[in-house]
Amino acid sequence: MDIINDLPERLFDDIDDLLAFISIYDDRRRLAAYRRLLHAHRRQIKGAVCLDAGCGLGYFSEQCHRLGAAKIYAVEANPHLFSLAKERFRDRDRIEWIQDDIRNFRPKEKIHILVHEFFGQMLFDEDLFVLDGLNFKPQLFLPNRARLMAGLLPSAQILDANVNRSMLDRLQGVLVSGLFEDKGLPLQFPVTEWRPGKSVWRTECSLQGKKGDLLYFGLQILHDDQVICQAAACNNWSFVWTPRFGDRFELSFPPASRGRKVKFKWVG
Ligand SMILES: C[S@@+](CC[C@H](N)C(=O)[O-])C[C@H]1O[C@@H](n2cnc3c(N)ncnc32)[C@H](O)[C@@H]1O
Repeated sequence: MDIINDLPERLFDDIDDLLAFISIYDDRRRLAAYRRLLHAHRRQIKGAVCLDAGCGLGYFSEQCHRLGAAKIYAVEANPHLFSLAKERFRDRDRIEWIQDDIRNFRPKEKIHILVHEFFGQMLFDEDLFVLDGLNFKPQLFLPNRARLMAGLLPSAQILDANVNRSMLDRLQGVLVSGLFEDKGLPLQFPVTEWRPGKSVWRTECSLQGKKGDLLYFGLQILHDDQVICQAAACNNWSFVWTPRFGDRFELSFPPASRGRKVKFKWVG
């Protein structure tokens, strides 16, 4: 979904975000994966103070309410998503709705559980960085781990009449999401990782000894050692593709005016 007409900048940004985030709800597997994660922690959630950070349409808040949390703070920066969530679940008595940036939030009591989904398809290219700017320390993050994985394959296996070898040659150093069908391809090796307070913003990765002239990246969300969901299986996150032009690449996520940039280059 794209906005076609010219709008004041603030309105454009808010509606653009609204449209982008509404589409994540088409991914039923993502929601089911989070429902399972919350259900697996039902004993910790019962009687706890929970925070749904970036609550979107509020499904995780509703789930925590259903699992018996004593109180749930639902915090959302986007005014439209915030109103829609509040409207949808206004009768849930133990949810406190707060429209603000999560980095401004100062809870009155200890937050036992923070649930979030700030992951981009390259891991750090959405809003995960906001969790480094909190004014408080939750006891438990759900989920508490994610990594960017990668894989290689021979391009001959997947090229077609339009996306052919000459076309790929024009994409040196360019990361393209959704360039090919990604179903059924394995995520073979880790590139970079996130844990609360431990974001690896820059990494160099060697492909020495690995075969394949087409590189792809895919997000994997974990809790401890258990995979919760991953790119392609959950269609909210596509694989990101680039032709191989070396045995070593550098990937980094320097700060941008809004969030983080993605930088990629072949270094060997
Ligand atoms: C990927 S969506 C996830 C929504 C919801 N948690 C879910 O999974 O259904 C991320 C949400 O976080 C919100 N968000 C992003 N940065 C935020 C911030 N700094 N403070 C509060 N909300 C934020 C976005 O507006 C968006 O609704």
